[in-house]
Amino acid sequence: MFDLLESTLAGTRDNLGEQACVLRGFALPYVPEMLPVLDSILKAAPFRHMVTPGGYHMSVALTNCGALGWTSDRRGYRYAPNDPVSEQAWPAMPDLFLRLANTAAAEAGFDQFEPDACLINHYVPGTRLSLHQDKNELDFRAPIVSVSLGIPAMFLFGGHERSDKARRIPLFHGDVAVWGGVDRLRYHGVMPLKEETHPLLGAQRINITFRKAGGTPHAV
Ligand code: SIN
Ligand code: FE2
Repeated sequence: MFDLLESTLAGTRDNLGEQACVLRGFALPYVPEMLPVLDSILKAAPFRHMVTPGGYHMSVALTNCGALGWTSDRRGYRYAPNDPVSEQAWPAMPDLFLRLANTAAAEAGFDQFEPDACLINHYVPGTRLSLHQDKNELDFRAPIVSVSLGIPAMFLFGGHERSDKARRIPLFHGDVAVWGGVDRLRYHGVMPLKEETHPLLGAQRINITFRKAGGTPHAV
């Protein structure tokens, strides 16, 4: 059922806002090369459940690659050059990932996107991500590029206030969501994942989100 939907949508584009869209199936040609690269990142920096500043364990497990990695603990959310578990630098950002992020951003209208951070989120059925804004980055001129792999998820894309009504958009294996410019700080999240099994990845979803986290502070 989902395979059929995926292949029917591939190559199409859903606009979520003036400067936000989903590029259906955009990452599919990259997937065969991505999976082994992802495996080697996960060997060096395995998925882990981080603690929120409020003291809760996040439902999503995560890791990072790139010069900066997003982390959370009792002291807050921030980007850091080292993995707090291994105390080593995060694995380097693979060229393949950079190319995917850069071409997807360009396709969505954002030229010369050079991410320095790549957050890799791990979901299993039941995992959710509550509504939030991506705002720990310094320069909001760069977009967010978010690649979905594995079982489908219902993405929530809201407005600039947490209470704004959020649109529900299904995201499938190979889809790339991009939001930037006037849509850069919109609230978003993921509903609890349904039980599904993906032919390549099994009962899991991996979301790879590219950001430009460092640089000089700048508004949208
Ligand atoms: C995120 O907002 O960091 C991830 C969104 C997703 O998993 O699709
Ligand atoms: Fe986010």
